[in-house]
Amino acid sequence: MCGIVGYIGDKEVLPILIDGLKRLEYRGYDSAGVAILGEDLKVVKTQGRIKALEERLKDEDLKGNLGVGHTRWATHGAPNNVNAHPHYSESKNIVVVHNGIIENYLELKKMLVKEGHDFRSETDTEVIAYLIEEFYEGDLLEAVKKAYEMLEGSYAIAVMSKDQKDCFVVVRKDSPLIVGLGKGENFIASDIPAILTYTREIIILENGDIVKITKDDVSVWDANGNSVKRPVQQVQWNVEDAKKGGFKHFMLKEIFDEPTVIKEAMRGRIKNGSFEIPELEQISVDYLKNIRQIFFVACGTAYHAGVVGKYLAEKYLKLPVQVEVASEFRYRDPMIDGRTLLFVISQSGETTDTLAALRLGKKKGAKTIGIVNVVGSSVAREVDNVVYVHAGPEIAVASTKAYVAQVEVVALVLLYFAKKLGLLSVENEKALVSEFFALPEKAQAILDRSNEIAEFASTTKTIEETFYIGRNLDYALSLEGALKLKEISYVHAEGYPAGELKHGPLALVTPQSLIIAIDTYAPLRKKTLSNIKEVKARQGRVLAIATKGYSEIEEVADKTFYVPQTIDDLSPVISVIPLQLIAYYIAESRGLDIDKPRNLAKSVTVE
Ligand code: M6R
Repeated sequence: MCGIVGYIGDKEVLPILIDGLKRLEYRGYDSAGVAILGEDLKVVKTQGRIKALEERLKDEDLKGNLGVGHTRWATHGAPNNVNAHPHYSESKNIVVVHNGIIENYLELKKMLVKEGHDFRSETDTEVIAYLIEEFYEGDLLEAVKKAYEMLEGSYAIAVMSKDQKDCFVVVRKDSPLIVGLGKGENFIASDIPAILTYTREIIILENGDIVKITKDDVSVWDANGNSVKRPVQQVQWNVEDAKKGGFKHFMLKEIFDEPTVIKEAMRGRIKNGSFEIPELEQISVDYLKNIRQIFFVACGTAYHAGVVGKYLAEKYLKLPVQVEVASEFRYRDPMIDGRTLLFVISQSGETTDTLAALRLGKKKGAKTIGIVNVVGSSVAREVDNVVYVHAGPEIAVASTKAYVAQVEVVALVLLYFAKKLGLLSVENEKALVSEFFALPEKAQAILDRSNEIAEFASTTKTIEETFYIGRNLDYALSLEGALKLKEISYVHAEGYPAGELKHGPLALVTPQSLIIAIDTYAPLRKKTLSNIKEVKARQGRVLAIATKGYSEIEEVADKTFYVPQTIDDLSPVISVIPLQLIAYYIAESRGLDIDKPRNLAKSVTVE
């Protein structure tokens, strides 16, 4: 996720770009840059936040009335000065800013290198600029249209040409982009807050739209090349609301981002109906056959993603698997050797304990794979192989969308290894692949019913403590559900194996207890149902999260929230959503500071 802003009109463009970029910084902040077309087409960019860019601009005299700016969240290539956007074409006549991923950029890059072109950066973006230049014959729009036909993936781009001082061209495919309308001036942006100071009239572009923007005109062509008119909308939000996409908190916005996050996490990882992880291609079958044990090491929510990994790895790879909290692992003497595969999971990639655990594992000879969100972070740099989850920046302290992406990517990696080892039948792979593709829609279906959860949460004011119970993967989810609730609502919550409740915690169950029973794992459904009955016999209040169609549960639970049917092993990706929502709405009904809960920090860089 990156931020794009652009302007064409009569005003000096630089202050407009800087102001817009500051408002988009929540979308990415590892580097930033601007391109301005004045006498010349000039790019200034730098690693770091917008402040660093402003410092850098003090030495420049950038004047012009047409320009684009970019704040980056790295996906391809480390966050540094060279990989920062905007990117020039080879001759420096074309400039591109880009948000999203070009899936076939390696193929395109190889083709262009073969033709004798020299690249400067490691990004997928540069390929776009070079490709447009290849097609450019004096008409920027036509060149962009031709390049667009060759680009696969999800992206929004804005393009300027040194020879066309009266326009820029933008494309929107799966990544957001809006056009802001002014009088004798027009704007583009990844998101509304960037331009809200200047205009409230916007056009939300559709997927596949290509748009030519001059100061007096906005012309749109749809994915089929037809000239179309898109409706103009009036924005009612204030700037602060707009940053959160109109949601009250970043946490809620991030939960609602999850259908897109699920799509992004699998992008390029399922090819021709088969699991492929390009980042792990060089791991050989011989190496995989030689592995004797697997570890998942992480902290907090990432640790809970590891618990899901344990269940899946045992099932699909038939190996002993351990999942460890990094702060414990690092001070033990774990039995690790060269035949150990160590997965390290981290959203930030900077968690001190996780980094120390990674270093210990490496020292003992394990091969390490990082499942990481922040590109170029310490964990990403130090592991042998990194697979990014592409969840985009997570602002709320409580991790939500990163968990969804972590669980999904862990599953994709394990299924890819199982396939390589001949442990995944063709029919099984086919069924799993088609279910992966169905997940975004199923996640959306859950979000569309978030009001049911909000209503239930408003009835929980007297609850003093909460138990989350489940079996197998539902148990893994119960741990995450409980963590979410306690960190933002300050209600005591515990995740417990459903079958273990009667070995102690049942003594605590009273009418003031809320029991959230997760019962989506079909093979153990009936067993969990019996545990719910045990709770009901002690007057505990039960909210059940169950698979659609399992109506028996309604006779026992006080309230049932149904999640769509999916393959059991993929259920955590979507079944966590009602748990995140319940935590959110309970905290909201108590009027708490949801995005910045007391005593907690987003990135834990201390022991
Ligand atoms: O950045 P990391 O994934 O390494 O962070 C790990 C934990 O600190 C993090 O998941 C924490 O538990 C969150 N506050 C959970 O919502």
